[in-house]
Amino acid sequence: MAENYQDFIDTQVADLRKTVGDQIAINALSGGVDSSVVTVLGHRALGKQLKTIFVDNALMREGEPQRIVKAFADMGIPVDLIDAREEFLDALAGLTDPEEKRHAITNTFYAKVFVRLVKESGAKFLLHGTILTDIEESVAGIKRQHNILSQLGINPEEAYGYTVLEPLKTLRKDGVRETARLLELPGWISERIPFPGPALAARIVGDVTRDRLDLVRAATTIVEEELADSDAFQYMAVLLNDMATGIRDNKREFGKIIVVRSVESVDARTASVTRVPWEKLERMSQRITSLPGVNRCLYDLTPKPPATIEYV
Ligand code: XMP
Repeated sequence: MAENYQDFIDTQVADLRKTVGDQIAINALSGGVDSSVVTVLGHRALGKQLKTIFVDNALMREGEPQRIVKAFADMGIPVDLIDAREEFLDALAGLTDPEEKRHAITNTFYAKVFVRLVKESGAKFLLHGTILTDIEESVAGIKRQHNILSQLGINPEEAYGYTVLEPLKTLRKDGVRETARLLELPGWISERIPFPGPALAARIVGDVTRDRLDLVRAATTIVEEELADSDAFQYMAVLLNDMATGIRDNKREFGKIIVVRSVESVDARTASVTRVPWEKLERMSQRITSLPGVNRCLYDLTPKPPATIEYV
């Protein structure tokens, strides 16, 4: 589509204004490029009639909730930070099956936290960052998209009395990024690598506990720092459920294993492994095995297929 993205922005802003009228709308910002673009578009169209929330689900990168809220405050867009960490951790407690974990996160977000916030706000409209690829992949059954309500069997109009608006549903990721640049979102948001809806829980094999989250979060910071200049499509740290013997301070230690994964891809449907320079791999390994209780660091050499990009 030879899209003129400035026209796209103008049309969406006008449409949102017309549709919402003098009612209240709400949207959830995750800090990814899609929900960030929706937030700026919605704010341009609706100003104070749009309430934007950021739900801290305990599964984010280090400092992420505060960093995102500040970035939007700097653009003059107020964002309410909702602390729902306990609710998500409680819902995940004892779960190890990947689908059960994903379901617990989706359900806690939509059926518990978000519904409550929508009700409190009196919003009649929900702005959602669904993009064309989400719709295509859901229809094709490639991905169980957590962000399409109907797939959860929820008709929002009937169930909660609000209408879902999806201003980005004709765009693919490149179009969303181009729109983000035109909207003058900070470069670290418009060019951000993909991050899954289930967040760091998609990178913990086995139990998702506070301690295991803290560990994978710290490892994520290291990998993101080391690979920031790599141009790779996506990179991450993963905590395995296996243990391995190592030696620390002259004592044998049965320790944790972290996997570093970095892939090249265009649309995440297939992916090849990044040829990370050896020195960089060694430095990541040194830094990651300095984290408490971690005595192995592995680099994943598996393309997609047969592997997926995430581990859970
Ligand atoms: P997989 O692991 O299926 O991931 O190869 C393909 C791409 O999708 C991202 N991903 C998700 N994104 N909700 C999302 O919004 C999810 O549940 C989800 N699962 C995976 C993943 O990070 C990769 O970019």
